[in-house]
Amino acid sequence: MSQDGVCKLNGHPSENGGAMKTRPLLNRRLDGLGTTIFAEMSALATATGAINLGQGFPDTDGPESVREAAVRALRDGRGNQYPPGPGVPELRQAIADHQHRFYGLSLDPDTEVLVTTGATEAIAATMLALLEPGDEVIAFEPFYDSYAACIAMAGAQRVPLTLRAPDFRPDLDELRALITPRTRLLLLNTPHNPTGTVLAPDELSGIAALAVEHDLLVVTDEVYEHLVFTGAHHPIAALPGMRERTVSISSSGKTFSYTGWKIGWVTGDAPLVAAVRAAKQYLTFVSGGPFQYAIAEALALPDAFFTGFREDMRRKRDLLAEGLRTAGFRVYEPEGTYFITTDISPFGDEDAYTFCRALPERCGVAAVPNSVFYDDPEAGRSQVRFTFCKRDDVLRDAVERLARLG
Ligand SMILES: Cc1ncc(COP(=O)(O)O)c(C=O)c1O
Repeated sequence: MSQDGVCKLNGHPSENGGAMKTRPLLNRRLDGLGTTIFAEMSALATATGAINLGQGFPDTDGPESVREAAVRALRDGRGNQYPPGPGVPELRQAIADHQHRFYGLSLDPDTEVLVTTGATEAIAATMLALLEPGDEVIAFEPFYDSYAACIAMAGAQRVPLTLRAPDFRPDLDELRALITPRTRLLLLNTPHNPTGTVLAPDELSGIAALAVEHDLLVVTDEVYEHLVFTGAHHPIAALPGMRERTVSISSSGKTFSYTGWKIGWVTGDAPLVAAVRAAKQYLTFVSGGPFQYAIAEALALPDAFFTGFREDMRRKRDLLAEGLRTAGFRVYEPEGTYFITTDISPFGDEDAYTFCRALPERCGVAAVPNSVFYDDPEAGRSQVRFTFCKRDDVLRDAVERLARLG
């Protein structure tokens, strides 16, 4: 954004006149959504040589056996040409098996599972499929940034349900009060990025009861389902009355540490999945053919992989949380995800965005301001997010650098 609040993309009218002079290039639905904060802060980290604890991607690859499975698929010519639109049967079956193994959910892999280009495409296709212009979508704020963009692209309105520090729990009375005749769906994210909140069974039942009472759809983003340190992950789709109204979204990127492969998926009742498929087929049709076979193998890894991954991340969380506390941050310990939200008030009155712009120069670490994930930036004015999905030596180095802030 330029200082007058106009997206930079709109700032260069054509010299030959005509409509270009008066009409911004970027359509008004996307006004203000020009560059994601992750791109901005990652570019800053690269330019300054800072350790990037801003964007959530691991600095080591996932299991070797999974990478080998992708190589094998490439060599064997599996998935090198357009795979089936809904995803290769092996992966759809593996996703169905995973949902049954971990949550007791039974899904028909042919009609109730759809493979997407990461959770990102799943979110976009779901919003484009299920929303009419003018519909309202209630979503937790701070929002993962693609929610706002996808709701906007569908012409719908986002309505924030604010998760407030220090606990970041949803207030169900507040949720009830936000529901209007125009509310079409509730967009959940558990475990929640950036706060680390994991919805508890009573919160999920309360939300489910409201969805049933008001006949709302529920879309739930569960990409951090295997990164829960306190309690357990409970999919809302498993609750009574929810199956027929819930679209569940997940992805291989976070669980198997291959974020670049962009293999995600949607599960739900056949009519919901068919609706999402209708939109998805015109976005990418298909992608990641050989990777789909590899992720099918990854989903069948033994329990030891999933517990080992979680315990490793728990140790990293504790390492970074301790370092942040020692450096002077107030730390909100996450129940899940690989992010820690902190409060920077102990360092003065600077807002989170200004703090994050200066952080790489000040101490050689990049982070992301939570304020950009709120409709009302004041609500997250002093919150900064750090990721801990990095090697131990990188985290130790970051902690030493952060200690210089004092
Ligand atoms: C909450 C949430 N949803 C979705 C995504 C995107 O997932 P994918 O990389 O599979 O598109 C992310 C990535 O950071 C995320 O944090």
